[in-house]
Amino acid sequence: MIEIVRLREEHVEQLETFFEAINNLSYVDDFSPHPFDSSNAERICKYHGRDKYCAILLNGETIIGYGLLRGWDEGYEVPAIGLCILETYHGKGLGKLLLDFLETASRLEGASEVMLKVKKNNVAASSLYQKQGFDLKEYNDLFLIGRKRL
Ligand SMILES: CC(C)(COP(=O)(O)OP(=O)(O)OC[C@H]1O[C@@H](n2cnc3c(N)ncnc32)[C@H](O)[C@@H]1OP(=O)(O)O)[C@@H](O)C(=O)NCCC(=O)NCCS
Repeated sequence: MIEIVRLREEHVEQLETFFEAINNLSYVDDFSPHPFDSSNAERICKYHGRDKYCAILLNGETIIGYGLLRGWDEGYEVPAIGLCILETYHGKGLGKLLLDFLETASRLEGASEVMLKVKKNNVAASSLYQKQGFDLKEYNDLFLIGRKRL
């Protein structure tokens, strides 16, 4: 059974394990919101600010997806979305599920818009975002910027 949880102190070890699994080029090339080390796992699970860090937990044990909404703490009105699903679980609708969750969480926090950046060669993520209604535009040589009104 899956559940989406806000990361809390009880999840530190599970998040460390997830970060170990994604701390290689096949993920980091596309998804690198912060270093994937133990100190960040601990910091995120102990964090109590306005930004949101959440995970998809399988059978109450294993983190198979990680998502974040950032920017509010720094004073931005439009939060930036980031998400990553473990490769074994790709193509099962989890990316869409987590994105829907992050959009709804943003709406509940009063956001009228969400944004994200995606590498131009990241076909899976760009297709997901387009399908979800993000307007993707050129950001620079490497990245597209996506915005969606909520
Ligand atoms: C991008 C990512 C989150 C997608 O997660 P996922 O769980 O595999 O995606 P879903 O199964 O929910 O797919 C939803 C939609 O995304 C698109 N999509 C997903 N994988 C795709 C692929 N390999 N090629 C093309 N489109 C793809 C499709 O439109 C799909 O809808 P469909 O199943 O009706 O065709 C996942 O590939 C991932 O974590 N990648 C590594 C990290 C990353 O790139 N994060 C985003 C950084 S901006």
